[in-house]
This record gives sequence, structure tokens and C-alpha cells, in this order.
Amino acid sequence: PLVSMKEMLNCAKDNGYAVGQFNINNLEFTQAILQAAEEEKSPVILGVSAGAGRYMSGFKFITRMVEALIDELEITVPVAIHLDHGSSLEQCVQAIHAGFTSVMIDGSHLPLEENIELTRQVVDVAHAVNVSVEAELGRVGAQDSGVITNPEEAYAIPSECEKLVEETGVDCFAPALGSVHGPYKGEPNLGFDRMKEVMDLTGVPLVLHGGTGIPAQDIQKAISLGSAKINVNTENQISATNAVREVLNSKPELYDPRKFLGPARESIKETVIGKMREFGSSGKA
Ligand code: G3H
Ligand code: ZN
Repeated sequence: PLVSMKEMLNCAKDNGYAVGQFNINNLEFTQAILQAAEEEKSPVILGVSAGAGRYMSGFKFITRMVEALIDELEITVPVAIHLDHGSSLEQCVQAIHAGFTSVMIDGSHLPLEENIELTRQVVDVAHAVNVSVEAELGRVGAQDSGVITNPEEAYAIPSECEKLVEETGVDCFAPALGSVHGPYKGEPNLGFDRMKEVMDLTGVPLVLHGGTGIPAQDIQKAISLGSAKINVNTENQISATNAVREVLNSKPELYDPRKFLGPARESIKETVIGKMREFGSSGKA
């Protein structure tokens, strides 16, 4: 059933595993991720970016699609629909109104006080209807920017994280500590010392963005330091597209989209199952 992230993340933090946020881009992504969660008996978070929202005919349609799939596929594990990197109060309200059970307000580009003010407004609205809220501080590297080389410029500052979490009452929190959206150029350089500080100071489940391409031992370390939600998008996109390419390359005559979208869906499902096992969420629903 559809639930907020609050309980699933608190439970994950208390029990030393992380729940995956897997971004959806279309019907096949959504089917694959829900089926993987059901087979693995894992809680799951469906991430929806504003761009993916527009691509899929809006937040309302997405909620209806997810609800219909939960019904038709007989999904019994906890599922959250989460606005990923929400950019304004209006956008968060739109998602909540459409039936999303969780929102992220990403005010990380704002000065601290403005980020806190915006986040607090979102929390006020969201908590009134049992919707969970994620906030962010610091900068997650942009796609193709590669590895962050100057931590002082981009990494979240622990004392600011403490202030934001305390003054806003968010349910979970994403301190940017060197992770990057999209593939990494070279090894990621995650700020584990700060992650531990942020965990100790805030006490809320932490979120690791840019989950694609982070080595397994770094994932385990992040989980041990309080990261209870890990976001993955690019890795599923790559596996889906590789599957499509393989089919089309081997059968240039093919014209039925189901013949390449089916294998794409299958490879997303396999990728998600692998992540759920790596994050330790399998069997936890
Ligand atoms: O918010 C979405 C995630 O941070 C996705 O990151 O595309 O690098 O896996 P990724
Ligand atoms: Zn992200």
C-alpha cells in the first residue's frame, strides 16, 4: 500500500539497512520497480522528478498509474511516491494534492536561512496530511561535473545541518557530501567524517543522492553512518538503454516496441533487485 517514507526510513535506520529510491520515467520503470520490491519483500520509494512528472502527463496521472499497478500487480509491500528535488512550495503542494505520500524540497542553492524558511513552509503543509519531507544542504554534483574536487565548496556543514533539521522538523535529510548525479568520473570521494557528525547532530535518517556508481564498501559505510535512503536513477536508465541497444543491434528489422521495452523492463527489475540486496532492504517489508 501507499505510505509516507517516515516509518520505513526510521525502521531502516534503527535496523542498519537502507531503502532505495528508484526514479520512475515511464510505465515500464514503474512496473519493474514495483515487481522487484514485491519479489524481494522490500519497502520501496518511487522517485518522481519534475521533469519525469511532465514527461508522464503530470503528478495526478502518476499517482493513478501507481495505484492501479499496486492493485493489478497485487503489491503488498510498503510503497512511497516521492517528489524528487522539489523546487518550490507550489510544486510540493501540487505533488501532495495529486496524492504523493512524500516530497523533497531542495533549497540547497539558497542561503541557509531561506532554505530553512522554505523547508519549514513545506513541512507545515505536508505534515498536516501525513506526507513526509526530505530537505537538502550542500551541493550534489551536477551531471557530468565528475568528482567533486573542492569539498569545502560543496560539502554540507554539520552545524548548519543540525540547525536546519532542528528548526524545520524534516523526516529525513540529504547532506551533500561529495556524491554526484549521473556516472562518476573516477572514484567518488564521500565525506564520511562529516556524515558521522551529521548523523550524531541531527538524529534523522540520512539520504544519499547520486547512488549510481558508488562502490559497495562505500554504500555499506554510508549505511552504517545513518544513511537510510539511497537514490538511484542513472543505473536503471543505463541498464534499460543497454538492453534496448542490444535487441535493436541484433535485430535491425524489429519494429514492435514491446520487443525492446520488455527486455528493458526486465533489466531494470534485475538492477533494482541487486540494489535492494546490496542496501539490505530485501526481506524487510
Ligand atoms: O535524486 C536522484 C538521485 O540522486 C539519482 O542519482 O542518477 O546518480 O543515480 P543517480
Ligand atoms: Zn538527487
